Amino acid sequence: MDLKTQMKQIVATAAIKEIEDGMIVGLGSGSTAALMIKSLAEEIRLGKLKNIRGVPTSFQSEVLALELNIPLIDLASVSEIDLAIDGADEVDPAFQLIKGGGACHVREKLVASKANKLLIVVDETKLVKNLNEVFPLPVEVLPSAWKQVKDIISEMGGVSNLRMAIKKAGPVVTDQGNLILDVLFDDGIKNPKDLENRINNIPGVLENGLFVNLTDEVLVGKIENNMPILFSPSKIS
Ligand code: 5RP
Repeated sequence: MDLKTQMKQIVATAAIKEIEDGMIVGLGSGSTAALMIKSLAEEIRLGKLKNIRGVPTSFQSEVLALELNIPLIDLASVSEIDLAIDGADEVDPAFQLIKGGGACHVREKLVASKANKLLIVVDETKLVKNLNEVFPLPVEVLPSAWKQVKDIISEMGGVSNLRMAIKKAGPVVTDQGNLILDVLFDDGIKNPKDLENRINNIPGVLENGLFVNLTDEVLVGKIENNMPILFSPSKIS
């Protein structure tokens, strides 16, 4: 296992320890969440965790959970989720996030919003001082609206790129059948709450990848002396 995967595995393993029998668990998306789902499946297989039901945040997590025999329940069928565990693309000191690197942030935010606790699992490369200085903000848009939304975001000072697919000609199509604009603002994002609302107010926008005031705990994996180490930073408000 390479060092980056070791950092991800140590947080995935630690996250599973927060799951208790009978819980409804939000199953995040991306490579770190996938390791968490695999670890969870193993605990269920060994009988160490019982009566768990997972709520997938994407087609990716749904397929993986089904293949590994994790019982699933639909988001619409639950009134609350006990614990959601998900990855992130950037985490700032106040635990505000950019998500959507896997184009799954619409359902990820729905699950996070219904969760009593949101636990974020990342490697240390995801910790940033200011959001969006490096990682572009994903914005899911209706296919017919992408150019109109791009132009409005440009007036707000953001440079957008339509996310292009790999091994398919043309753009990435989300689980909901929409497109993704990846947006960089000149000076990064200073006021995530305000920007989240302003972008979501543009006609044609489904959801953006800013997760504001949703995160309860962050588990971080890093490498020290060639060994993976786990730590949990405190939120700085
Ligand atoms: C998908 C996400 C992922 O959680 C995020 O991209 C992190 O992925 P990874 O753990 O592979 O770095 O938001 O939409």
